Amino acid sequence: MKILVLGGDGYLGWPTALHLSRLGHDVGIVDNFARRQYDHEMGVDSLVPIAPLHQRARRWQELSGQSLAIFPVDLTDAARVHAVVGEFEPETIVHFGEQRSAPYSMIDRSHAVYTQVNNVVGTLNLLYAIADVDPSIHLVKLGTMGEYGTPNIDIEEGFIEITHRGRTDVLPFPKQPGSFYHLSKVHDSHNIQFACRIWGLRSTDLNQGVVYGQETEETALHPDLATRFDYDAVFGTVLNRFAVQAVAGIPLTVYGEGGQTRGMLDIRDTLACIELAIDNPAERGEYRVFNQFTESFSVNQLAEMVAALRPGAEIVHLDPPRVESGSHYYRAAHTKLLDLGLVPHLLSDGLLESVMLVADKHRDRIDPGAMQPTVDWRRTSNTVGDARDPVAEPA
Ligand SMILES: NC(=O)c1ccc[n+]([C@@H]2O[C@H](COP(=O)([O-])OP(=O)(O)OC[C@H]3O[C@@H](n4cnc5c(N)ncnc54)[C@H](O)[C@@H]3O)[C@@H](O)[C@H]2O)c1
Repeated sequence: MKILVLGGDGYLGWPTALHLSRLGHDVGIVDNFARRQYDHEMGVDSLVPIAPLHQRARRWQELSGQSLAIFPVDLTDAARVHAVVGEFEPETIVHFGEQRSAPYSMIDRSHAVYTQVNNVVGTLNLLYAIADVDPSIHLVKLGTMGEYGTPNIDIEEGFIEITHRGRTDVLPFPKQPGSFYHLSKVHDSHNIQFACRIWGLRSTDLNQGVVYGQETEETALHPDLATRFDYDAVFGTVLNRFAVQAVAGIPLTVYGEGGQTRGMLDIRDTLACIELAIDNPAERGEYRVFNQFTESFSVNQLAEMVAALRPGAEIVHLDPPRVESGSHYYRAAHTKLLDLGLVPHLLSDGLLESVMLVADKHRDRIDPGAMQPTVDWRRTSNTVGDARDPVAEPA
């Protein structure tokens, strides 16, 4: 199959591109390298060094014999998006190409506007390109479990049956996202669903949980194939950050009470879920939602699991920089990918130890200051980058 991976230079896009290539698909990568620029802006870096995209692709060709087509394109450039889709003629497009950090979107007005324009306009350009070039292309779009927020009822997979004043309908599940980034994903979901309805497009919206881990079967083949590993307070995901804090011998920083519960998954399961969505495409005109996570943990549980592997590791609670419930009900359905055959890797299977090993191997690159939160949701303007100003004190 011809598959275009948008955001294919990123944490998840790169290993997905390799995985699909190894399966024998003809893979093209679109990226504007915005993610590498955010590192310069924030004064941080991936803990694991990553090679430039062309070097990565050359190494992959040398090792696998498979070539990857590279398109250095910004998705907000409509004409170029249209040209790439027309030139490459993909049967499937996997869309990872967005600004994906909640704290980054909450820095100030310009970062909120950038995030929403980048994400919503990029996806809208893509929808128009698909409709014009070939409406039968299957769009596999990365959304987030954060679109739902934390309602006091069970979360369904995209839709909920509601009976209201004696009448019943199946409607999109109510969304209560927690940042301007998460809101951009909700706007995307509405636009994609609408495009499926009016133009007969087909799309799978993957509402993904928080991903942990760094190595996949393909990225482990050579250091040039490594994917990024973010642990800083703006881009690092929580479990990766705790692993680095434990290895560096500094306290694990839990925000507030630590009862915040989220769906999570191993990076290898992200690849498996994408593969399942591609192999079992949506019908023409169908917009479907899969909740893509395998287990749920509270932040306290994660901190305790990591601390248990490093006797003596200290856990501290910081004033919460985010506006969110410190403890709440959380139960979310996630059966559709299991029904398609997903066999999850569970956190208890030993991946946590391997994440700690990755952190240990690169411990000389750890910047402890990068893990102090600098973005306070309550402020309309925060100072980040080299002049960063930590916002949270131990509670
Ligand atoms: N990492 C997670 O835990 C997680 C969880 C849930 C959902 N997701 C979603 O999965 C996707 C990928 O996440 P990731 O962690 O790999 O992020 P990432 O930031 O590492 O990768 C995103 C890639 O998209 C590129 N990009 C951004 N804007 C672009 C544009 N306008 N044009 C072209 N390329 C652009 C970036 O340069 C980057 O390489 C995102 O959409 C994110 O919202 C990630």
